[in-house]
Parts: sequence; C-alpha cells; structure tokens
Amino acid sequence: MEYIFKQGKTNKPTFLLLHGTGGTEEDLLPLAEMIDPEANVLSVRGSVDENGMNRFFKRLAEGVFDEEDLIERTEELNNFIEAKSNEYQFDRKQVYAIGYSNGANIAGSLLFHYENTLKGAMLFHPMVPRRGIELPNLDQLPVFIGAGENDPICPKQESEDLKELLESNGASVEIFWENQGHQLTRREVDQAKEWYDKL
Ligand code: MLT
Repeated sequence: MEYIFKQGKTNKPTFLLLHGTGGTEEDLLPLAEMIDPEANVLSVRGSVDENGMNRFFKRLAEGVFDEEDLIERTEELNNFIEAKSNEYQFDRKQVYAIGYSNGANIAGSLLFHYENTLKGAMLFHPMVPRRGIELPNLDQLPVFIGAGENDPICPKQESEDLKELLESNGASVEIFWENQGHQLTRREVDQAKEWYDKL
C-alpha cells in the first residue's frame, strides 16, 4: 500500500487519513493539519483501481459495495495499521480515522468488523458499510459525522442509519449537517476540530 507517514509530537495520537474515490494520500493532509497539527499522520492510498480512480474497496455500482472485497480490504487495512505502528513506533491504541466518502466507508467498516481498532473516527459523508451483521462492542467510542442534507452520493438516511447502528453498539456519535451536497466543507472540518478538542 502506498502511504505517507508524518511523525508528530510525542504522546500525540495518530490520524489515519482515508481519501475519497479518485483521491490520493495527499488529499486529507490539510485536514489533519487543521484538526491537530501535532498528531502523527498515516495517510493511505486506496489500492483498488476503478478506471484510474483510487478506492479502498470495489463496488458493483455507485453506492452498491462488493462486500467480499470490502471485508478483505478492511482486514488488510487493519493489518497495515498494526504493521506501521510497529515500524514507526506509534501507539496502536491511539489511532483516529479521518475519512471522506469512500475513505469514510472503509473507516466505518473497520468499526463494524474490529473491536478496539480505532480510538475514534471523523467520518465525512459516510454510508453504512454493511447491513445485517453484528457489530463489535464500541463502548463510548467517539465518532463525528459530517454529512450533507442533500448529498446525492451518500444520502441523508445512510448517515442517520450509521449513527443509529454505531450508537446501538455503544458508540457516542455527533452528527453535523451541511447542505452542500457531497462536498466536504470548511465548516464541517471546523466542527470536527471543535469536537476533537473536547475529547
Ligand atoms: C463508495 O463507493 O464508497 C461511495 O459510493 C462513496 C464514493 O463514491 O466514494
């Protein structure tokens, strides 16, 4: 997997950055800088190529995920975080995901499949990664969701369902609504920072 690692200040958490479809590991670096410039950064490039666009897992159609591939890639990402935490000596227990769109969906999938894989998550324009499965215990896990009331790609109901599913397994979820479609806005990032600063 292609990635960027940036060493932060001692005892700071690590931000796992996960871009949207067609993005790269460079895309969310400014977000990490805005939210906590002292955090370590592990920014990953999705290794699925969809007509030249990088993604974190395959899809059958827009909004219809290839579940088998999603499960495999989620495991691969989980192992990758573990391997990099050993290589760069960051605390595996202090990893926060920051994901946008497809990246938010694989971050959500980490939470749906693994207990204690993330310390928290900032999910921008996410969907429900899988339905009809039992989630691990997410006791008190803090999650921020930034979503669009009028997002044509990640519909409002998806973010609402995701919040409910995470909460019913113990997570503590805050949702912030924008009305700029699928766009990730400055206001969402400012809200995420405010949320993170209070953790
Ligand atoms: C996905 O495939 O993960 C979602 O449809 C969002 C996106 O287009 O990246």
